[in-house]
Amino acid sequence: MPTTRTQVAIVGAGPAGLLLGQLLHRAGVDAVILEQRSAEYVLGRIRAGVLEEGTVELLARANVAARLRAEALVHTGVGIAFGGARLRIDLHALTGKSMYVYGQTEITRDLMEARAAAGAKTIYEAEQVTVHGIDGARPSVRWVKDGKPHGLECEFIAGCDGYHGVCRASVPGTAIRTFEREYPFGWLGILSETQPVDVEIFYASHERGFALCSMRSTTRSRCYVQVPLADRVEDWPDERFWDELRRRIDPDAAARIVTGASIEKSIAPLRSFVAEPMRFGRLFLAGDAAHIVPPTGAKGLNLAASDVHYLSEGLIDWYRSGRKDGFDAYSRRALSRVWNAERFSWWLTRLLHRFPEEGGFLWKMQQAELDHLERSRAAQSAFAENYVGLPFDG
Ligand code: APR
Ligand code: PHB
Repeated sequence: MPTTRTQVAIVGAGPAGLLLGQLLHRAGVDAVILEQRSAEYVLGRIRAGVLEEGTVELLARANVAARLRAEALVHTGVGIAFGGARLRIDLHALTGKSMYVYGQTEITRDLMEARAAAGAKTIYEAEQVTVHGIDGARPSVRWVKDGKPHGLECEFIAGCDGYHGVCRASVPGTAIRTFEREYPFGWLGILSETQPVDVEIFYASHERGFALCSMRSTTRSRCYVQVPLADRVEDWPDERFWDELRRRIDPDAAARIVTGASIEKSIAPLRSFVAEPMRFGRLFLAGDAAHIVPPTGAKGLNLAASDVHYLSEGLIDWYRSGRKDGFDAYSRRALSRVWNAERFSWWLTRLLHRFPEEGGFLWKMQQAELDHLERSRAAQSAFAENYVGLPFDG
């Protein structure tokens, strides 16, 4: 079996793996990325795209923020529609920070292009990836490509292979604890070449269920409605989607809505999930491999970035100075930010979605909490502080 060597083997070429690869490359640390899918497949996945300033700064440090800076929509506020009106939370006035709307697909493209331009190694369509020796000094990764087995010896493995990946699955059951909450509904999302419902993103709490009006650009909309998990995409022709969205948002927005054909339509389940710890010997988990948040707080990509911030710092410090306290602290530092984002995403999901099985009392509590949020500057500050994201080095 042909075997090569590197310093860090990264499994997964999603935003976590590619960003880690870019930061290590710029610091002169050798890393090879192994991805089971083709580059086209990875680029074709439709995901969210609302970035915290900390994530944008990290992408700038990785030298992949030029197009983002030029094309991202900068939002100084976010809205919540309920009770026939819309509350605007002035994120910038309350925190001095804004959010950046720039699709995850675009970030993935920028990172892939930077990696190709740097001549750094990525092996796409690497099948049957397995990890070995993570509790020893010489871990390795094996895979099959074009029917032939290959091996890669390394010093560290970064498991950036998502929720269904092989890295977390290869950790002994006795060494890991997981915490999970599945929600009894999904998000039906469509992408359409239509003018966004409003210039800023807004969520809606309605008796018929949650809704969200977002965008990818000033001419491309991304909107979602809460649907029962049993629903299928075929049950939702575009017209029914737009009609339902119109019913759930405030009348002003409903009157202005521009509808059109969907160019992508899918239903995503909602889940909160955390694995602890995020390090096992020479294996480090980052991004969706270690945690999942419901998309309500737009934290998924931003948490992957904060993991990569802590992990890259620890590994670069090791290779530069031989100090290991950086990567020894990785799991603790990453998890502290993960649990805060999990709490905020769970809280916002519970606030804005209908839980029919929980009866009318929860609905009344949700309305009372929204009224409180509208009246209380302190509540709006707490919301804003969490929505824009806590500093990486808080
Ligand atoms: N071998 C090699 N690659 C794998 C394997 C495997 N066994 N299993 C999964 N992968 C690859 C997937 O094909 C995918 O490209 O790992 C990558 C994981 O990428 P993501 O799922 O995008 O996870 P991550 O990089 O952590 O990004 C998290 O993505 O899902 C969104 O909301 C989430 O925004 C967050 C972000
Ligand atoms: C999106 O633009 O897809 C989006 C925005 C905000 C969220 C989730 C998704 O909370």
